[in-house]
Amino acid sequence: MVFTAAQCCPSRTPGEELPWAILLAAGSGSRLAAALQGGAKQFLLWEGAPLYWRSAQVLSQSAVVGGIVFVFPEDCRHAEAERLAGLVARDDPGIPWCVVSGGPLRQDSVRLGLAAVPAAVRHVLVHDAARPFLTAALVRRVCAGLGDGYPAVIPGLPVKDTIKLVDAAAPELVVRTPARECLRAVQTPQGFDAALLRAAHARACADGMRATDDAALMEAMGHPVRIIPGEADNVKITTPEDLALLRAPASAPLPCTGLGYDVHRYGNGRPLRLGGVEIPGAPGVLAHSDGDVLLHALMDAILGCAALGDIGQHFPDSDPALEGISSALLLDRVLELATGAGVRICHADLTIVAQQPRLAPWRAEIRANVATLLGLAREHVNLKATTEEGLGFTGRGEGIKACAVVSALRNAGA
Ligand code: CTP
Ligand code: MG
Repeated sequence: MVFTAAQCCPSRTPGEELPWAILLAAGSGSRLAAALQGGAKQFLLWEGAPLYWRSAQVLSQSAVVGGIVFVFPEDCRHAEAERLAGLVARDDPGIPWCVVSGGPLRQDSVRLGLAAVPAAVRHVLVHDAARPFLTAALVRRVCAGLGDGYPAVIPGLPVKDTIKLVDAAAPELVVRTPARECLRAVQTPQGFDAALLRAAHARACADGMRATDDAALMEAMGHPVRIIPGEADNVKITTPEDLALLRAPASAPLPCTGLGYDVHRYGNGRPLRLGGVEIPGAPGVLAHSDGDVLLHALMDAILGCAALGDIGQHFPDSDPALEGISSALLLDRVLELATGAGVRICHADLTIVAQQPRLAPWRAEIRANVATLLGLAREHVNLKATTEEGLGFTGRGEGIKACAVVSALRNAGA
């Protein structure tokens, strides 16, 4: 049942001073069988790995778990152990682990998992691999409760619905209504004194007692079970509608940021435009397009969000068609490219660096115009102007520069 070369990591000494986790992945997922065409939910591929791997990662990242016993169905234990070894090679959890076969009931799987926990380990966590959204903070809270001396620590939440007790033989008949304030919906990981849990399982086995969680076996032995706050997101993937929860993170947009920077030399060229606003009386700029340094920095920042290179690649200054072209038109094209890459601009923070002209009188107009060009509310565009205290080329009045930082959301996978 325990450790063969392919089924454990033999090179490590077990971390016996920390709790070990028993990760339950030996169920058949009967309530999801039709939706998954027979495959068990804990083996669903999620973010490139089987679902159970997510729990293993969080348990190891919590830094309070000393080792993991993976419990797999007997008929695929060897194949799963091999796949697990591959996952570990790619992304080592850094703690000892081993693989055992589970049994027909969850309770059997826990008992078999417990037998593989090194004898010197004082505390164990029992976790359902079908609860991939646990957090390291929750794991630490459970372990902290064990550290405080409680023999059983379980996460739970107050229930929102009124719960009715029904007759098992005639479930359409209500027997009674327990007071809602006395009810808790409990979750895993559940933490236990390992010796007491072993004894509770042995007694349950001998008495033929069945329970759907391990705390119930501890209760039956008369041990106090402490409830700590659970997490609303820590749901157990159980029925077909829960599968949507696994799709959500993959499709949620991801934040991204782009930085743009541009410089133009002053000279007898084109009238100075900033953010699409012409600044009368300012020095002219030398440029192939209209030389709007602010919009150029902004376009590079947007391309940065979309990971699409820079404006020089998209609009080469050797292209005669771009001679004198309005940067507002180029910005429209950049926005189209960004939209095509699944990027939605949220916010732009812009800085113009120039010794001259004075920009304070133009600030509000430039800001409003950039907001219009980006299709953003004005409060999502910020414009700053500064000099460089007479230093460098801007200080000598030889040119102007601009920086842009753009925040955006990008559709995952786009
Ligand atoms: N489990 C287990 N061994 C069993 C039964 C369940 O290791 N004999 C595990 C499941 O893989 C799951 C967790 O216990 O991670 C919680 O059980 P549950 O959600 O009931 O999963 P299944 O029993 O697989 O699903 P179902 O009850 O719908 O058949
Ligand atoms: Mg079950």
